[in-house]
Amino acid sequence: MDALELVGNTPLIELKRVVPDRRKVRILAKAEYFNASGSVKDRAARAMILDGIRSGKLSGAKTIVDATSGNTGIAYAMIGAVLGIAVELYLPANVTEERKLTMRSYGAKLVETDALEGIDGAYKACRRAVNKDPLKYFYPDQYVNEANWKAHYEGTAEEIWAQTEGKLTHFLAGTGTSGTFMGCARKLKEKNKKIKCYNVTPDSPFHGIEGIKHRMMVLKDGFFDESISDGQPAVSTEEAYHMSRRLAREEGLFVGISSGANVAAAVRLAEKLPEGSMIVTILCDGGSRYVTGELWRVEDNGGWGI
Ligand SMILES: Cc1ncc(COP(=O)(O)O)c(C=O)c1O
Repeated sequence: MDALELVGNTPLIELKRVVPDRRKVRILAKAEYFNASGSVKDRAARAMILDGIRSGKLSGAKTIVDATSGNTGIAYAMIGAVLGIAVELYLPANVTEERKLTMRSYGAKLVETDALEGIDGAYKACRRAVNKDPLKYFYPDQYVNEANWKAHYEGTAEEIWAQTEGKLTHFLAGTGTSGTFMGCARKLKEKNKKIKCYNVTPDSPFHGIEGIKHRMMVLKDGFFDESISDGQPAVSTEEAYHMSRRLAREEGLFVGISSGANVAAAVRLAEKLPEGSMIVTILCDGGSRYVTGELWRVEDNGGWGI
């Protein structure tokens, strides 16, 4: 066994205390921080890299390159270490120190770009490097790579179906590249077209829910298909932070901000659903990814104190 086999087959955890009434509506959360490098992005990164090897695009002494400010970079770095492939990551200079350290510890080379230009600046610099020396690099480009959502179509969704014995009625997930949501929603609706699937969105384009994007900021050429979604519950940064803290204190689940956003939306949905419904959502990464940020530092006064 190697670390690549520690991706997938994550536990599905039932929430007990943050749920309005679990005898009426159950909420289950897929604990993706159990993946080898600690996030849901291991699935997509592994699928894109193995697809590159299978198709011949990733061969010889090529270097894996991409622009990423977080979990995908850590996932590439871990997988590169397992397979003995060099990894070069473009990222805004203000990415937190613990993330940079994690990527470097797996052996990745980091290229820091202007913090003021954010992830867009990192993308531009990454594309420039690829255009300059195309034969050197394998560029998975997670926003357009079909292997991304297929990893969830073939993996995450099948696991959810088996773990709930096909009993789920609703699925919710926030969207970054939208790979998790698109792959799961497509497969789950194929299994049972009555399953409702919602993509959770930040309530404003300028928000603090790391890893997920407001629709206005989503690339037009990506694979997000709105027609698959049954609705887009909006969650504020305050609500997401508050729920992340509640998950730690009331459920013993130390998870990140996008996980808080997913569960906050799930709890709101549970209040509206008929008895016997079962909601499944995603815990995207662990709380330790946010130790130098505000998430765990501020005394929570009910969601309005940040
Ligand atoms: C913390 C976190 N949550 C959610 C997501 C969204 O996942 P996806 O890209 O599959 O939409 C990401 C993606 O980077 C993430 O890092």
